[in-house]
Amino acid sequence: MKSREDLRRLREEAKGLVAARGAEGTKIIVGMGTCGIAAGAREVMAAILEELNKRNIQATVTQTGCIGMCEKEPLVDVQRPGEKRITYGNVKPADVPRIVTGHVLHGNIVEDLVIARFEEI
Ligand code: FES
Repeated sequence: MKSREDLRRLREEAKGLVAARGAEGTKIIVGMGTCGIAAGAREVMAAILEELNKRNIQATVTQTGCIGMCEKEPLVDVQRPGEKRITYGNVKPADVPRIVTGHVLHGNIVEDLVIARFEEI
C-alpha cells in the first residue's frame, strides 16, 4: 500500500500530464511592436511564460511585430488546434491566469477581453 504522500505525488504528476496534453499544439502570440512594448507587452509575455511554467502547460509562445492595433496593445493571440484564432486586447499581467487556464488549457474563451476572432489558417 502506498503512503498518502506517494498518492498525493502521483495525483499531482497525473494532473501535470493532463494539463500538458490539454494545450498541446496551442500557439500563443504576443504583439511586441514598439507600442506593444510601451504598453507593457514584455510584462505580459513574462507573465504568460511564468504561468505556463508554473502549471506545466505545453504551448508554443512566439512574438510578432506591429499589427496595426496600437490602441488595443498589449495584444495576445491564442490559437488552439482546429479552433478560431482569438485576439485579446489591453491585456494586463493580471489577466494572464484567466487566459492561460481558461482558454489555453480548457478552451474557454475569455469573452470580456476579446477584440477579434479569425478562422484558423
Ligand atoms: S506596434 Fe502596435 S500597432 Fe504598431
